[in-house]
Amino acid sequence: MIEQYPRAEWGTVHTIGGLGQFWLDRHDDFRQMAAMMDQGTNKALEGEMQPMEFAQWFAPRLNSFLGGLNGHHQIEDYQYFPVFAAADDRLKGGFDLLDEDHHLLHDMLERNAAAANDFIQVLQSEGQQDPRKALDIYAQEAKGLLSGLMRHLEDEEDLILPLLMDQGEAKFGGY
Ligand SMILES: [Fe+2]
Ligand SMILES: [Fe+2]
Repeated sequence: MIEQYPRAEWGTVHTIGGLGQFWLDRHDDFRQMAAMMDQGTNKALEGEMQPMEFAQWFAPRLNSFLGGLNGHHQIEDYQYFPVFAAADDRLKGGFDLLDEDHHLLHDMLERNAAAANDFIQVLQSEGQQDPRKALDIYAQEAKGLLSGLMRHLEDEEDLILPLLMDQGEAKFGGY
């Protein structure tokens, strides 16, 4: 359906409704948070931010990022995807893939949180272990999650926005 409603025509030829805009805005929030987290991680990797300073900076942000993402996926999985998938038979396979993505992302999200905890624990061991190694492992997990997430957000928009444009939003609770 994306062929009929290409991205370049969103908001110009084809109107983006309130529900579609809500999706794009929510996804943009995640993109911004992800970019900010990634910048911080790079600073820590390059030594521009000390490990302890980085830990204090990223811990609350990572918490709200991972929590927000989890909540968003739950709303999609339970509230919207079943209704969207039922609306057009051609989309069933696409929504199944997005659902699989959510499981994969959830695993990455848990590994990310575990790597973050390990890093913080190493810092709390007061010099008994080198925090660089734990930081590298965290950074690797974080970058894996971010790149998977960026792809997912785009794939999801390519499926949902055309559907909303095609069928109108009223039947999905939009306006
Ligand atoms: Fe999603
Ligand atoms: Fe989403």
